[in-house]
Amino acid sequence: MTSRLFTKYNRPGSRYTVYPTIPYWDPDSFSKESWVQSLTHSLNEYSDEGISLYIHLPFCDSLCTFCGCNKRITLRHEQEMPYIRAVLKEWHSYLNIFPKTPSIKEIHLGGGTPTFFSMDNLKILIEGILEPVHLAENPEFSFEAHPKSTSRTHLHGLYNLGFRRISLGVQDYDKSIQLALNRVQPLWLVKRVHDYARELGYTINHDLIYGLPNQTIERNRPTLEITESLKPDRIAFYSYAHVPWRKGVGQRAFDELDLPKNAEKRAIFEAGRQFFKDHGYKEVGIDHFVLPGDELAKAAETGRMRRTLNGYSTTQNKIRLGLGMSSISESGDGFAQNTLDLEEYQQKAETGELPLIRGHISTTKDQLLARHINELMCYFETDLPEEPILKADILSDLKEMQEDEILIIDHDRITVTETGRPFVRNVCMAFDQRMKESSREMMFSQTV
Ligand SMILES: C[S@@+](CC[C@H](N)C(=O)[O-])C[C@H]1O[C@@H](n2cnc3c(N)ncnc32)[C@H](O)[C@@H]1O
Ligand code: SF4
Repeated sequence: MTSRLFTKYNRPGSRYTVYPTIPYWDPDSFSKESWVQSLTHSLNEYSDEGISLYIHLPFCDSLCTFCGCNKRITLRHEQEMPYIRAVLKEWHSYLNIFPKTPSIKEIHLGGGTPTFFSMDNLKILIEGILEPVHLAENPEFSFEAHPKSTSRTHLHGLYNLGFRRISLGVQDYDKSIQLALNRVQPLWLVKRVHDYARELGYTINHDLIYGLPNQTIERNRPTLEITESLKPDRIAFYSYAHVPWRKGVGQRAFDELDLPKNAEKRAIFEAGRQFFKDHGYKEVGIDHFVLPGDELAKAAETGRMRRTLNGYSTTQNKIRLGLGMSSISESGDGFAQNTLDLEEYQQKAETGELPLIRGHISTTKDQLLARHINELMCYFETDLPEEPILKADILSDLKEMQEDEILIIDHDRITVTETGRPFVRNVCMAFDQRMKESSREMMFSQTV
């Protein structure tokens, strides 16, 4: 792979988990009234699908220097219950708004560290969420687990509440990298949680990251080998997102010069990609590897996979409600985000006010472009839109990438080539009319 392309195309760009991307949401399109209207409409229209709930649990007991998530570092466990009360209050505010009681298709506990919370408190949370509603057919409950804080009690208790998928934060097993990440977690610690989760019958996901400080292909190899030997059902091999300007992120704790960049960073991914494929994993989307037979593999094969804020998903439902500080909700044609401030979140949720800070109601054109971007991020392929002006605009932006063999266009079908895969986010940018029409330069992580 030529380093010329990396120098040319590696630039700031969205990760395209939603479209329009948050910095380009249109504040004029959004109000609490329009948000409620959009949710009500979707619930009336698609109530059979059930809704997904994302619950953000923001506390962690120490700061990992690579982390780009919205979290609060604390050792004060007495904060758990007030937070849970606020989340349940927020949930009830939504239930009061909804024209009918929704059924629950999916619950995902993310963070922060959900297993920072005691099992007793998580039980109060989940029972409180489920008490006023019923479950859709084949519900999917999952949670993110830090190996250090996930006990047998957590694994057992969450299993009894219906959780069947666990995402273990591994990142990299190399000791010197773990020291730079302020996250020393030996193999035995991960294995203990992994083995017990297996025994109970969970589907297991391991999160790895490439592009970490001091990481090289050679240094990453043992991580690949250990991961493969444990045979998780899914492996997410994320690109390290360097966003040190974001509030609450500790990414200035290591030297930026130690970060592998451009072709060197991508080579670490390529080595992992080859390794997992050689060991029976199927590549899915931009950064996932799954065992054949896994639900995500089946969804990918049948075109049912989609990219969401929580990674790739097999569910199709339109309403994805985000509860908790900083969570993002989707209604089908709109988005809303909760405040990133913990105290403000709790105070507003407690008083029954939706703790929103921003949102966007999508136009028909937004929805069309979102579909194309989703296809690219899932399958590296999409059609050109039919509308002539839009099509001409996108084509003119794709021309140079076509000349650089990043993609081919055949009968209005765009296919990202093998050479072009690292630059799929750049290809998506050609479809990002909101970004192109705006004069604002936004801060994003690099596309590679
Ligand atoms: C909310 S975090 C983790 C859950 C749990 N707190 C833990 O650390 O294990 C979910 C995953 O996001 C990924 N992640 C966090 N910060 C990242 C970054 N800056 N770039 C890429 N991936 C990141 C990590 O792989 C992490 O396991
Ligand atoms: S990686 Fe997980 S444990 Fe570490 S700071 Fe981020 S959310 Fe907390």
